[in-house]
Amino acid sequence: MTPVKPRVVSGMRPTGPLHLGHLVGALRNWIPMQDQYDCFYFVADWHALTSEYGATDDIAGHTYANVADWIAAGLDPEQCTIFVQSLVPEHAELHLLLSMIVPVPWLERVPTYKEQREQITERDLSTYGFLGYPLLQTADIVMYDAQFVPVGEDQVPHLELSREVVRRFHALYGEVFVEPQPLLTRFPRLPGLDNRKMSKSYGNAIDLADDVATVRAKVRSMYTDPARIRADIPGNVEGNPVFTYHDAFNPDAAEVNDLKTRYREGRVGDVEVKQRLIAALELTLEPMRQRRAALLARPERLRDIIHDGSQKARGVARETMARVREAMKIAYR
Ligand code: TRP
Repeated sequence: MTPVKPRVVSGMRPTGPLHLGHLVGALRNWIPMQDQYDCFYFVADWHALTSEYGATDDIAGHTYANVADWIAAGLDPEQCTIFVQSLVPEHAELHLLLSMIVPVPWLERVPTYKEQREQITERDLSTYGFLGYPLLQTADIVMYDAQFVPVGEDQVPHLELSREVVRRFHALYGEVFVEPQPLLTRFPRLPGLDNRKMSKSYGNAIDLADDVATVRAKVRSMYTDPARIRADIPGNVEGNPVFTYHDAFNPDAAEVNDLKTRYREGRVGDVEVKQRLIAALELTLEPMRQRRAALLARPERLRDIIHDGSQKARGVARETMARVREAMKIAYR
């Protein structure tokens, strides 16, 4: 018998094209986990609705494009289960049942909720769905008995809420779920090209699907050390996004060290540092472009991957819901 691998679940919201931040912050964690764990990776389209309910035109399109990028980056649909949240409607049922037991103040004190309510003013986020975001996430995770959830730092309070909800459920109805643990991404958050927070709304990201010309233009426009007006002035490497990107993407550590030394000593120009960064990025992006193009040339194959994966996820979800209904004594036979 093959030993049972621990289960991993993670999701991404289909709010736009994927960029280098997604690669560093999520996909580079997801990909190597495929061997060691039984991985369920999904597109959280309902989570996208919690904030984008007023503009739903592009959600399904982003879902397909995001999955194409996942596979182009190295997720293997033979090895992991790739699915779409709304194609497994059991998530909604579990979310509803958990909503019966979660105290509203638990949701109101989640830091991401508080911050976004304060910061986002152009949309009305005083909705029930937005408040319930981390509870829907809890349903996503505990549905599959996930032991580990690869996420960024900002998601840790969501996992804490998940564990609290699981404990409350167990106290009321008996043991059904596994308490999930976050698995944090190692690389610190990648800055945007302008050294602000990387964000779709700032237009300061390199998309995974950008062509070479766009990548070149974006890297050439990158923020560097602003005090360095000539190449012979010693420059700052720390906090300089061009070097943060070298650290994240340049596989040639000796080259990166040499560039840093020369930069600090005023012996290299920004142009060379950026040219080498473009070359390093292309090592990652060009094979992805080829795999993405091959996938998009056969859209029915991509659709099959998504629907087959969702069917498989649904099989697991149905079993979980049978246990949940049994525990809550609302199973009708
Ligand atoms: N909240 C996650 C994010 O913004 C997306 C997400 C939804 C998720 N459901 C999940 C992540 C379940 C992990 C597990 O990144």
